[in-house]
Amino acid sequence: MGCDIIQCNEKLLEFEQLIENREKKHWKGTLRTGVDLGTANIVLAVVDEENQPVAGATFPSTVVRDGIVVDYVGAVQAVTKLKDQLEELLGETLDAGACAIPPGILSGNVKAIGNVVESAGFRLTEIVDEPTAAAAVLGITDGAVVDVGGGTTGISILENGKVIYTSDEPTGGTHMTLVLAGFYGCSTQDAEIMKRDPSQESNVFPVVKPVVEKMAAIVKRSLEKYPVDTVYVVGGACCFTQFEAVFEKYLGISVVKPAAPLLVTPLGIAMNCTE
Ligand SMILES: Nc1ncnc2c1ncn2[C@@H]1O[C@H](COP(=O)(O)OP(=O)(O)OP(=O)(O)O)[C@@H](O)[C@H]1O
Ligand SMILES: [Mg+2]
Repeated sequence: MGCDIIQCNEKLLEFEQLIENREKKHWKGTLRTGVDLGTANIVLAVVDEENQPVAGATFPSTVVRDGIVVDYVGAVQAVTKLKDQLEELLGETLDAGACAIPPGILSGNVKAIGNVVESAGFRLTEIVDEPTAAAAVLGITDGAVVDVGGGTTGISILENGKVIYTSDEPTGGTHMTLVLAGFYGCSTQDAEIMKRDPSQESNVFPVVKPVVEKMAAIVKRSLEKYPVDTVYVVGGACCFTQFEAVFEKYLGISVVKPAAPLLVTPLGIAMNCTE
């Protein structure tokens, strides 16, 4: 099954607006929540019975690193706060919740992530893997999902709706920030702000391009074993407008980046939250 990128982007941009404006949308049936505990951000996504985004909230976080909970109490507090905020907005209690794990994580760490969601007051229904969550939003059953987050580049190969191969290697947005700080002789905080400023892309992208090529090299190695027609890129570190072009040149296949790449996995976790 192929990706209907127009429909997918509409949904993502709608979800982005809901988060930015702290708004809710009318919903049908029971609400379900997806909790994405990332290295850089915690994102909660609420969807209705038709998998339409209803509301969402996000918070910058350092409580989880590459799928490992490094500050349990902090993680529970952050998720609880976002849950409270959404419940107040919706005037409704959020019950069913799902979370996700990056590819290749150890079972003890899976349990810790599930416990965070339960301790924050959700009834945990599902722990999905991140690429499966992303694939649900993209509406794909085949191809490679590449998640470039804060700490790592994760590759997952899907075939007939099943994840048949995954790998997750260091190199993410954090590395871009470090390279930028080194080049401009500024603090990582300033480099982070500069990196995310679209008006600075012409000063930023040439400096971080080698990091993007390193990410592409990681992906290429996996694709040698598992060739695909299309690579779908998600995660915060692919936000640059020139990102796909570098990937396409390096990989020699088509690269699709959905609108709001930061929100694909969170929304997909909510869509996978089933009884
Ligand atoms: N507009 C932007 N331009 C460039 N980079 C961005 C932008 N917005 C966010 N990022 C970067 O994206 C990264 C976070 O992405 P994301 O939220 O997908 O990661 P995560 O899920 O928290 O981390 P991980 O998947 O590695 O555990 C950070 O390094 C951040 O600096
Ligand atoms: Mg992530």
